[in-house]
Amino acid sequence: MITVVIQTQSDIVEARRRGRDLAMQLGLSAVDQTRLATAISELTRNALQYAGGGVCEIEDRSDALHIRIELRVSDTGPGIADVNAALLDGYSTGGGLGAGLPGTRRLMSHFALHSQPGQTRIEAALVRHRALVRPAFQSPRHE
Ligand SMILES: Nc1ncnc2c1ncn2[C@@H]1O[C@H](COP(=O)(O)OP(=O)(O)OP(=O)(O)O)[C@@H](O)[C@H]1O
Ligand SMILES: [Mg+2]
Repeated sequence: MITVVIQTQSDIVEARRRGRDLAMQLGLSAVDQTRLATAISELTRNALQYAGGGVCEIEDRSDALHIRIELRVSDTGPGIADVNAALLDGYSTGGGLGAGLPGTRRLMSHFALHSQPGQTRIEAALVRHRALVRPAFQSPRHE
């Protein structure tokens, strides 16, 4: 599992790069590599902006049938005041576009948000059938 502690802008760049590299190693398309990288940067940017930092975990949970990359970004900040509103396009308390959370939800195969004061955690996963992934790039340990 990849763990990147998010404290600065450069930690976001690092998390994004490592996620993209994992997606590439697992044979996901350039578009899917970008999907994952974008999700990582949006969620870690939120953790930095609204909670002063957090932790990003990226994990290969692939099996015989699927490539599955799980992403968890958590922080111990104030929490999201209105979770339903935060998932709507255009809702921002920080003067942003309000596109990060709803956009990430659309990019990923699975998305779950848990937030209360002192603990916010977003869990997301990108899942693809192995049959649709270029065989030459499949990870040997799953064969
Ligand atoms: N980790 C977090 N802790 C506390 N509040 C959060 C967190 N992440 C998101 N939020 C809240 O949810 C809102 C929506 O987040 P989202 O990422 O969709 O938009 P944004 O960050 O405001 O703008 P954008 O990401 O488009 O620049 C934020 O404005 C903020 O109020
Ligand atoms: Mg955001």
